[in-house]
Amino acid sequence: MIDPWTPTDGAASARAQFAEVFGGEPDGVWSAPGRVNLIGEHTDYNGGLCLPVALPHRTFVALRTRDDGGLGLVSGRESGVWSSELTAVGPGSVEGWPAYPAGVAWALAQAGVTVPGFDAAVASCVPYGAGLSSSAALESAFAVAIADRVGAAWTGPDPSSDEGRAFLAQACVRAENEVAGAPTGGMDQAASLRCAAGHALLLDCRDGSTRQVPFDLAAAGLDLLVIDTRAEHALVDGQYAQRRATCEAAAEALGVPTLREIDPADLQGALAALGDDVSRRRVRHVVTEIARVTEFVALLDAGRIRDVGPLMDASHESLRVDYEVTCAELDVAVATARAAGALGARMTGGGFGGSAIALIDAGTAQAVADAVSAAFADAGFTAPEFLLATPSGPAHRDV
Ligand code: GLA
Repeated sequence: MIDPWTPTDGAASARAQFAEVFGGEPDGVWSAPGRVNLIGEHTDYNGGLCLPVALPHRTFVALRTRDDGGLGLVSGRESGVWSSELTAVGPGSVEGWPAYPAGVAWALAQAGVTVPGFDAAVASCVPYGAGLSSSAALESAFAVAIADRVGAAWTGPDPSSDEGRAFLAQACVRAENEVAGAPTGGMDQAASLRCAAGHALLLDCRDGSTRQVPFDLAAAGLDLLVIDTRAEHALVDGQYAQRRATCEAAAEALGVPTLREIDPADLQGALAALGDDVSRRRVRHVVTEIARVTEFVALLDAGRIRDVGPLMDASHESLRVDYEVTCAELDVAVATARAAGALGARMTGGGFGGSAIALIDAGTAQAVADAVSAAFADAGFTAPEFLLATPSGPAHRDV
């Protein structure tokens, strides 16, 4: 199991790196979590519903402002020190990982904030490239750090309020879409900035509103096991953008602003109005998936957490057959976890690799993990990794 760092260890790691590269002390250390999505996949950019929880695994940023508008960045996961200036950052101007933090500075400035230059060191225990939103954790940690350091000169909504968190999330989305060039939909940034410990975040992407839904695994005698398949996953590649474009074209053909507006009761009529089978299957996934989120939340509200498994299974099938974003590793992980006793299992995040989640009885994580590892070895796949998703808190200042 990949255990999360303690806040003390995470902050110490970022600070040590900061001292080594930039010298002296940072102004503070801020951190933000990765996420898994319980259900509601590929719905965010369709104005739909999703239900993420924040992981206990976080990205830590030790940051000190500069008064010359310069930017210096270093990460424990990457080699070299990146240097630039705020005025040089914008769409298409930054390559690689610095596009995420520099993009957040740019997007906040675009939103009217007087952003200072800064030096910063990053340390993270969010698995990288695993579909667990390491990029949103990075963006969100910088967003709260910058907001904090702007202090009294801050012009946006109070960054500790929910409105302020939505404002920061929007800046992170612009950083990712416009500076890093990944056309993602916003669920991940909302999760990292707006989740609450012990809860899942019901996010309505039509208007950005949220509700904290109690998700007490321990009280139900359950664990949420994350299986990182280690299969390559890249959001900047064309597949994600293609799915999004197909949905947007279908919405236009159906005369609605987003697929959220298709009532599940009218699904057959909508499908009949579409000219091709691929669009029909994509639309069927989105409309049925949004309905599954509503059903899932109704079960949680009714205290029936142990009954959500079939909805997770149905979500995976829809993503496999209709949306076509799973892969052999994800399908084997999910099938094996179910055979080993999981109440339900599904891929989580963008797909095409990345991670799956399995809802399991507490105390069975190692047995399920062993079964999945054995199935992967039999299939000749790279060995998977595992962690437990204890619903955790949002981005904040640590030190
Ligand atoms: C990725 C994107 C999100 C969302 C999911 C699929 O994680 O970053 O915006 O679209 O895929 O639900």
